[in-house]
Amino acid sequence: MDQHDVIILGAGAAGLFCAGQAGQRGLRVALLEKAEAPGKKILISGGGRCNFTNLGAGPGNYLSANPHFAKSALARYTPADFIALVERYGIAWHEKTLGQLFCDGSAKQIVAMLLEECPSEKVTLTCEVDVASVTRGADGVFTVTADDGRAWHAPALVIATGGPSIPKMGASDFAYGLARQFGLKVVEPRPALVPLTLGGEDALFRELSGVAAPVRARAGSGKGKAEFAEAALFTHKGLSGPAILQVSSYWRHGEEVGITFLPDAATDWLVEAKRDRPRTHLRTLLRERLPARLADALADRLALERELGNVSDKDLRAAQAKLGDWRFAPNGTEGLAKAEVTAGGIATAELSSRTMEAAKFPGLYAIGEAVDVTGWLGGYNFQWAWASGFACAEAL
Ligand code: FDA
Repeated sequence: MDQHDVIILGAGAAGLFCAGQAGQRGLRVALLEKAEAPGKKILISGGGRCNFTNLGAGPGNYLSANPHFAKSALARYTPADFIALVERYGIAWHEKTLGQLFCDGSAKQIVAMLLEECPSEKVTLTCEVDVASVTRGADGVFTVTADDGRAWHAPALVIATGGPSIPKMGASDFAYGLARQFGLKVVEPRPALVPLTLGGEDALFRELSGVAAPVRARAGSGKGKAEFAEAALFTHKGLSGPAILQVSSYWRHGEEVGITFLPDAATDWLVEAKRDRPRTHLRTLLRERLPARLADALADRLALERELGNVSDKDLRAAQAKLGDWRFAPNGTEGLAKAEVTAGGIATAELSSRTMEAAKFPGLYAIGEAVDVTGWLGGYNFQWAWASGFACAEAL
């Protein structure tokens, strides 16, 4: 009989890190991975350089039905802790922008480090495991059986199989099915950090495919509302770029997304421009500040084809207001196929925020993206994977 102290399902960011920490605490860990190799999402992350954390990561950078849930784990394993680990392995890194830390070299270094962190005498990684069933005996021992008949047994089981975004890489909703099997609720999963699609009148903007501009983008309502100042990119399907990916996590079907073009312009900039350059056209002013194709598309829609001196201040202020809060009504997202993460997941109400253990099922834990905690774009999701994996390993 293959007896371990803990079985961890999924050798991605959270599972690998948790396995290393648990192994270093002396536990015998069976780390089971469906793919042929561990850490596939880490390898493609950050354009192959892995944006492994964010200097500013805190609870406010995460979406969850319970915004307080992530606090404890994030406070106990911080970006500084992960940076110290990366430095111990001599992995060179740099801050790209907005606190986002990337490897100078390659994401392969992070996977190699996570594997190195797993003491070989304690952690057994088995890849290409197709889990056929997970059961729990009356003695509280979990048994994971593979479709080829191999079985693993342990008094603790950690669900670290991630979310279903990018199914082409083998991602699936396995975690949710397993959680439901044990009676745990799942917050409806939805694609997040995902491009938005435009239809109807907005579809005309798709002609701008390839054009990018700095904006402030807003979406959501009530407490689930957020605004991001980053670049937006027009695509042949709609809107993308960091600002849009960020707001997509807050956007719900039927809602609008507000975009502030020229986010640095003074409040009354068009009226001031009229005083200074009354012979100028709005199109010219926009072209001075924005990519020409975008400037033309906005000027066409604002339809003020006169010298500014001949436009009333009221009309100019209306144009300023429209540029400051341009409303798009996305008709959808590009879905899980293009989503960097999945929002929703195993309900935090079912788990201890200190240990990630299920209240209903002592010995059952869930960590990483499988849980209803979703980070912003920029290294926040990996920080959650490390922090939740650490909290779990401390409790095992
Ligand atoms: P993760 O998906 O890493 O791991 C889950 C593991 O479980 C996988 O190895 C999977 O094969 C395995 N598995 C699934 N089902 C199984 C089963 N039935 N049995 C056994 N194993 C199973 N985040 C960030 O902070 N910075 C970044 O730069 C990026 N970049 C990025 C780029 C792209 C293209 C994507 C798709 C995503 C990112 N992310 C990111 C998000 C980040 O990759 C993600 O949030 C973490 O990998 C989540 O870690 P987990 O360990 O929870 O899941």
